[in-house]
This record gives sequence, structure tokens and C-alpha cells, in this order.
Amino acid sequence: MSRLLLTGAGGKVGSELRKSLNGWKDIIRVSDIANLGEARDGEEVVECDLGDKDAVMKLVEGCDIIVHLGGQSVEHSFETILNANIKGVYNIYEAARIHGVKRILFASSNHVTGFHNQETLLDAKSEFRPDSMYGVSKGYGELLARYYWDKFGIETAAVRIGYCFPRPTNKRTMSIWMSFNDFTSMIKQVFETSRVGYTVIYGASNNKQRWWDNHLSSYIGWQPEDSSEEFANDSEVLKDTPDPLHPDTKYQGGFWTSNGAWEDENK
Ligand SMILES: NC(=O)c1ccc[n+]([C@@H]2O[C@H](COP(=O)([O-])OP(=O)(O)OC[C@H]3O[C@@H](n4cnc5c(N)ncnc54)[C@H](O)[C@@H]3O)[C@@H](O)[C@H]2O)c1
Repeated sequence: MSRLLLTGAGGKVGSELRKSLNGWKDIIRVSDIANLGEARDGEEVVECDLGDKDAVMKLVEGCDIIVHLGGQSVEHSFETILNANIKGVYNIYEAARIHGVKRILFASSNHVTGFHNQETLLDAKSEFRPDSMYGVSKGYGELLARYYWDKFGIETAAVRIGYCFPRPTNKRTMSIWMSFNDFTSMIKQVFETSRVGYTVIYGASNNKQRWWDNHLSSYIGWQPEDSSEEFANDSEVLKDTPDPLHPDTKYQGGFWTSNGAWEDENK
């Protein structure tokens, strides 16, 4: 009996993976702080706040592998980020250690490297240059995963997801778009390959314009098949004519780099 835990299953990406990963393992345990409705065939549904350590211990028990998508997915207050993305990731890894889970896919983000120029080709060794407190928290998740591999032998693929939505909507997301189909094939490959260790994978489809080079994780054997080019003539993409001198165009994190502090803007 094999059981996959999918956190963040109620989110934009999680609700797609909830469908595309169903049937891949004997059981998929779907979890979120939000209501996920009735369990579907092959599912167990567990409502859980990632910041609640006892609840996460129970959530992880009996699972073999974890796809960890749950958490605060855009900039927010430090308290919210602290609970979901700092305590939450710690709780997941600590529960994995206690319950003997050996491999995790952690949904990191391109926002850990958002202050690199768009002209710079990044790889898994590129320096952290977070563009937000959200990006800082994802960097913490990557470091924590690295620590749990070196110290406790729990393998992680940390995926710096670009833009995983049905379609790109502007020039920036044309470069960083990843289809749900490619994310699904990446997840299967990460858990079917013999060795992962600790690795960083940039999560983008086979787009014509690329900012990221995945050669350091090529041993995983994942090959994206889709490309944002099929959306190149969408009206939304065509009407986007970015100012080359604006920071939003200069940096990979786009408008995230020019946003002020969340606390100032939400007094
Ligand atoms: N979609 C993208 O393009 C993209 C890009 C970069 C990174 N990511 C990362 O991928 C993951 C999924 O992204 P998404 O776009 O589906 O985000 P989303 O916000 O739609 O989904 C995140 C889910 O996590 C849940 N969640 C939030 N706080 C929680 C808590 N304390 N306890 C339990 N669950 C909690 C939310 O209810 C939500 O359903 C996130 O970790 C996000 O940071 C996504």
C-alpha cells in the first residue's frame, strides 16, 4: 500500500494535481486548511493547519511520500508567513523524520531569486536574492530541506516554480510558465527515479525564452514537453509592452521587486 500526501490540495496548483495524481499511488491523502469537500475515489481528506505541530504529526503518519504545496503563496504579513511557511515547513520535515518519510517535493518559488536580472541565466547554485518576505520564507524552506538531507537522509527536490497557471499572461510569465501537465510529469519523475538527494529544480516548461538552466538536476531525468509559445499570440501577451528601464522589467521577480513592505501597504 503506497500513500502520497498532497498538501495545499485546495489551491490553484493543488486542485489540478489532486486530479492528475489520483490513481498514481494506492491512496492520495489530500490536505488543506480550507475545506476540500468529500473524499473522491482513492482519496483521504484531512483538514489541517500546517502551523499546528500535533495535527501535522497525525497528517504525515502512514504516508510514504509528500508533495508539499501548502502554505502562504503570495506576500502577506510576517505572522501569516511565519505560521504557514516557516513553522509549517518545519512541522512537515519534523513529522517526516519521525514517521520515516524518505522523499519530499517542496514547492519553492522563483521569488527566492527574484532580484537577479532577467538577462542572467540562473542554475541551482545561483545565489538567493529574494524579492519579498514570501521569497525569504521559501529560501528558509530550501535550507531546512538541505539540512534534513545532510543530517537525516530525507531527500528533497526543491522546485523553484515559475508561473504555474493555465496560461502565461504577459512577457515575463512567457519565460517562466510551467504547465500543470509538466509539473505532474516532474512530480512522477522525482518519485520514480532511483536517487534524488537534495536538488533544486527550476519549474518551467520548455519555453523559447528561458532564464534558468536545470543541468545540475538533469540526473533526475525530467523533460518538460509543453511550451509557452502556444500562447505567444494571446491578446493579453501581445498587449504587454514592458518599459525596459522599469525595475519590473529588469528583475526576474517582476513587480514583486518594486512592491513596498506588506506592513506599510496594509496598515
Ligand atoms: N502557482 C504558481 O505559479 C507558484 C509559483 C511559485 C511558487 N508556488 C508555490 O506552490 C504552492 C502552490 O501554489 P498555488 O498557486 O496553488 O497557491 P494557493 O494559494 O492557491 O494554494 C496554497 C494552498 O495552501 C493552503 N494554506 C495556506 N496556509 C495554510 C496553512 N497554514 N495550513 C494549511 N494549508 C494552508 C491554502 O488554503 C491554499 O489552498 C505554494 O506553496 C506556492 O508558494 C506557486
